[in-house]
Amino acid sequence: VQAALADGPLKGRRVLVTSGPTHEPIDPVRYIANRSSGAQGTALARALGALGAEVVFVTGPASVPPPEGVEVVRVETAQEMLAAVEAALPVDAAVFAAAVADWHVLGASLSKLKKTKGGLPKLEFAENPDILARVSQMKAGRPGLVVGFAAETDDVIENATAKRARKGCDWIVANDVGHGTGIMGGTENAVTLISADAAEPWPRMPKARVAQQLAERIARALLDAH
Ligand code: CTP
Ligand code: CA
Repeated sequence: VQAALADGPLKGRRVLVTSGPTHEPIDPVRYIANRSSGAQGTALARALGALGAEVVFVTGPASVPPPEGVEVVRVETAQEMLAAVEAALPVDAAVFAAAVADWHVLGASLSKLKKTKGGLPKLEFAENPDILARVSQMKAGRPGLVVGFAAETDDVIENATAKRARKGCDWIVANDVGHGTGIMGGTENAVTLISADAAEPWPRMPKARVAQQLAERIARALLDAH
């Protein structure tokens, strides 16, 4: 099996996948998080590995285990994820499936906040670095293919199309994570693959199938490029 896998269309290609949520500390025992399980990113890393890629999997604290046979780099915060991504470069393709926290708590406390101090805690936020935008806009050493995800609840295609252009990635995988879709944390996904010249809606299917098809598209794009 190993030999067959290593002979896949992505043999010799190095691919980075980010996945999972990030945790942003408030104090040593509390953090800000989001509902990402890491399921889609994990499935994607597995599918890319199965096509023969050398996969670097940079993951926040996910609720599903990482795939076997890939290089796993565990991080907690957005800042740590950025550092791990930069350390993993150069790569042939990079897919940003992580649900990176947009903000971190300014001056997170080094000791546990106590109720007894009087009044309610006031949290101040600062924006996190946009890892996808940074890699997409690299002047030198940019991956040949950069793919982002866009989790939206309203005007999904419109927002995701604008997001792709703004960040400068090649493709964006848009998904509707609105209330009642059951996608965030669920086992299925309904995505639209958006590039500079097309928006292609895919039927709702298991996240493993979405991963498989996306991995095949990535393989085709890399093979077509050279
Ligand atoms: N992303 C990232 N670093 C961030 C925020 C987002 O790399 N600090 C990546 C995500 O991994 C995803 C894409 O950017 O591939 C889009 O994330 P999303 O949260 O939809 O976009 P934002 O620019 O943060 O916009 P929004 O205000 O809608 O959250
Ligand atoms: Ca965001």
